[in-house]
Amino acid sequence: MKRIYLDHAATSPLLPQAKKAMLKWLDCGNASSLYQEGRQAKAAIDEARERVSALLGCDFGEVVFTSGGSEAVNTALLGVARANVDPCKNTILIGVADHHCGIHCQEPLERLGYKVEFISVDQFGCANLDHLKHLLTEKVLVVSTLHANNELGTLQSASEIGSICHEVGALFHCDAVQTFGKSGYWTKVEDLRADLVSVSAHKLGGPKGAGALYVKAGTKPKQLIVGGGQEREMRAGTENVAAIAGFGVVAMASRTPNEPAEALRKLLTECGAVPTVPKNVPSLHTHIHIRFPGLVAETVLIKLDQVGISAGSGAACSSGSLEPSHVLRACGYSEAECKEGIRFTLGPETTLDEAIEAGRRIKVATAEMRERRTV
Ligand SMILES: Cc1ncc(COP(=O)(O)O)c(C=O)c1O
Repeated sequence: MKRIYLDHAATSPLLPQAKKAMLKWLDCGNASSLYQEGRQAKAAIDEARERVSALLGCDFGEVVFTSGGSEAVNTALLGVARANVDPCKNTILIGVADHHCGIHCQEPLERLGYKVEFISVDQFGCANLDHLKHLLTEKVLVVSTLHANNELGTLQSASEIGSICHEVGALFHCDAVQTFGKSGYWTKVEDLRADLVSVSAHKLGGPKGAGALYVKAGTKPKQLIVGGGQEREMRAGTENVAAIAGFGVVAMASRTPNEPAEALRKLLTECGAVPTVPKNVPSLHTHIHIRFPGLVAETVLIKLDQVGISAGSGAACSSGSLEPSHVLRACGYSEAECKEGIRFTLGPETTLDEAIEAGRRIKVATAEMRERRTV
């Protein structure tokens, strides 16, 4: 049975051009060395930085390479907090439905002496702007929110959030891991009105373990990893040239066609799936989040795996078991409903035939599961 991969929001398969670039640079010099091998490695990093900055629409020197989206988000929040010298700026705001890499900065930030407050969301996981305005005082150092919610796919108005933050002198960090490189959502960092933007390579066919933080000129987070002066002293350590080069070659905008997602969405509704996000709410067109009421996501996902479909829930998975989704909880769902969320995410290579076949398999699988529950 041919497997159908529908979990692009978790990671996208490595593109051949990324693999080729990575193989070329697996064995290379240290980019800090002055001799030929070092200069060649440095040139490969510069080329990748050129491409990533072009896609971000920012200056070459505003890109800091990291080990991925999580490190970028951590650097934005903890790095800015550690660099701050103004004792009056003692509060940091984070979206309550953000990725765990942002939310879990709470504890280290509190240990640094900051007060962390969470911005509530509406039923679709988008920041409640009235609550944001209520929390925003001149004491706020930085505000962090997602551009697109990784579980639900809903888009927030980053530019509006950025403008609100700047009005009171707070920095704005936008986690754009789910929208970077996807055409139609933004074209340059300026569109997001953010001072810091986190992106990751593996969501667009690059390697896992590579990402970047856009740091607007004039902002300087303190490095989390101390050591050498790499990445303009914002991230120490000998660069992973292969991963950075692999990231560089995939740094171009791509557009996933609408038709496969539209077809799957329709077929899922016919199987009794309840969409979490109605059509009129701005969201990623490749993202389908649903619940099969009464069916626990973990069980459905195991069944789907058995019939050759790779899908996810977006909820944290540790020790092989899914935790109830903190995103659905923040959106006001009950504990039982928080365990029902399933996410299908399509990529540029997903075909209409695959989407239709997936719909057929899901229909049979969920009907069997429901039948077993009633006997
Ligand atoms: C919105 C969002 N932020 C951050 C991350 C973390 O990125 P990485 O896996 O590169 O650490 C992810 C990954 O799923 C994500 O979806």
